Order: sequence, then structure tokens, then C-alpha cells
Amino acid sequence: MTPDLMEAGAERIARHAYPGAAGQLTESGGREAGYGRHASPGEVDVTHGRILYLEDVSVSFDGFKAINKLSLDIAPGELRCVIGPNGAGKTTMMDIITGKTRPDEGTVFFGSTIDLLRHKEAEIAQLGIGRKFQKPTVFEHLTVFENLELALKTDKGVKSSMLFSLDSAQSDQLAEVLHTIHLADSVSRMAGNLSHGQKQWLEIGMLLMQDPKLLLLDEPVAGMTDEETARTAELFLHLKGKHSLMVVEHDMSFVRTISEIVTVLCDGSVLAQGTLDEVQADERVIEVYLGR
Ligand SMILES: Nc1ncnc2c1ncn2[C@@H]1O[C@H](COP(=O)(O)OP(=O)(O)OP(=O)(O)O)[C@@H](O)[C@H]1O
Ligand SMILES: [Mg+2]
Repeated sequence: MTPDLMEAGAERIARHAYPGAAGQLTESGGREAGYGRHASPGEVDVTHGRILYLEDVSVSFDGFKAINKLSLDIAPGELRCVIGPNGAGKTTMMDIITGKTRPDEGTVFFGSTIDLLRHKEAEIAQLGIGRKFQKPTVFEHLTVFENLELALKTDKGVKSSMLFSLDSAQSDQLAEVLHTIHLADSVSRMAGNLSHGQKQWLEIGMLLMQDPKLLLLDEPVAGMTDEETARTAELFLHLKGKHSLMVVEHDMSFVRTISEIVTVLCDGSVLAQGTLDEVQADERVIEVYLGR
């Protein structure tokens, strides 16, 4: 059993999940707006060295334990990759962190003081947790600039947001985000005319306009070309440190490019954790990727 074999297994899983070029939704990957954060969030207490902390989290759907005593934590500024076979519970874990799904039991903390289980989905976004679902959802009939501008103001609705003008700090922020997401040359282009990868970057840019402390990204490079995937890797490496990131991906070469610590999820809990080389050499991990 070699890492190459495991990568082949992962590729098979990715092909199975995404037969078409454009990404398709996973079971629980339906898009809901993660935007609308307008209040500047208070500081998150990371004195204990963790921005996100899950302990013994479980959730069942009709008696099936999708998440089973899941415990993990993420350090401030970390870029954590989460891998695992289809149905492992990766998206459900993100649903729990963002308040979309309530666990039956367990603890979920943002920093050491914010109990996320006491907050609703919209409040969690306001606290500084941004989520990117797999399918890009940008406003196709608006320009790149207008999409980013709107990300600051969605609470007022599209029409009144069009009348709103940016202050100079917001203009600077928008320019910086445009540069970060490689769309500085495309400000006036209609979002609907962008490539799949560019739409994904634009949506990440819309999240960045809200300056999230933690970004959750579910299969961000699915359906991207190799070049777009490479640029996305650069983007995430650039965001690391300034933001904390949790990235779920099946694309192992992408994971290899960006990862430090990789968490392997299986049957709703952590099967292994370490560098990609370490987890790829783990017999239990090889078994779940190739044994199915
Ligand atoms: N709302 C729900 N109701 C019933 N079952 C669900 C629900 N959400 C998820 N599940 C089930 O929980 C399990 C975990 O699903 P999840 O979507 O979290 O897996 P995943 O690791 O994201 O998989 P993939 O790699 O295919 O995206 C699956 O068996 C799925 O069918
Ligand atoms: Mg999923």
C-alpha cells in the first residue's frame, strides 16, 4: 500500500462525486447565504491556542450516526485540511460549526469563550465564521465590483445596496480583496461571464469582505482547471496566518500543496491526523480509501 495507491483511490472518489466539470452539490452542500455580516465582531479569545474546538460531538439522522464523538481543534492562523471518504461527515461537521445543524451532544467553541451551540446560523456568521459551499453562488448579473460591494451590505437588500457608497477604508479593502482573489483586471466584468474558478474566487472574496476570522471551505477546487487549482493553492497560502482556514478536499495533490496538518475523518470521527505523508502511510487510512 503506497501513498500513490491512496491518491489513486482519492481520485476515484473525487471522480465519483463529480462526474461533470462543474461542481455538483454533495448531500448536505446546498447553498445558503453566508453573507450579511455587518457588525464588526468582538475579539475571539485565543489565549488557549485554539480558534475552534470540538469535543465529543455527535449527531444522528434517523438513527444513523453521521457524526460520532468527533473531537478536533484548530489553532489561530492555521490552514487545516480535512479529508475522508464520501459520507465521512465532513460537510455535516461544517453544518454543525456554522449552526445549520444542531448536534445531539458535544461541545463546539469559537475561541475559548464563545459557545457556538448557543448561537443561530446568522449570528455565527456575524461572529466571524465564513463558509464557502461547493457550488459558487455569485450574483451573475452584477459586476465583480458590485458583488464585492454587496457583500458588505446584503442586510439592506439589493436595491438599497446599490445606492450605498463605500467609505475610503472599504474602498481600500475592496481593492485589496480584488488583488488577493486575482480579479483586479476584471472589476467591470459580469460575474456570469467569469470561469468556474473565477466565480469561486469571487465568492471567497465576498467572504473576505467581511474579514472572517475562520473560513470553512468545502471542496473549493472541485471542477477547477489545474491552473485554477494551483492559483487557489496560492490564495489559501496567502490567507493562512491572517485567517484560520478549514479546507475539505478530495484532491490530494492540492492538499499536498497547502497542508501542514491533515485530519482524516471517517464514520463521523477522526481516524488519523498528521502530515499528509503520515496519514497516507497509516494502514487504517489506506483501508478506508481503498477498501470500499
Ligand atoms: N440532513 C441529513 N439528513 C439525513 N442524512 C444526512 C443529512 N446530512 C448528512 N447526512 C448523511 O450523513 C452522512 C455524512 O454526510 P456528509 O455530507 O457530511 O459527508 P461528507 O464527508 O461531506 O461526504 P462527501 O465527501 O461525499 O461530500 C452521509 O451518510 C449522509 O447521507
Ligand atoms: Mg461533503
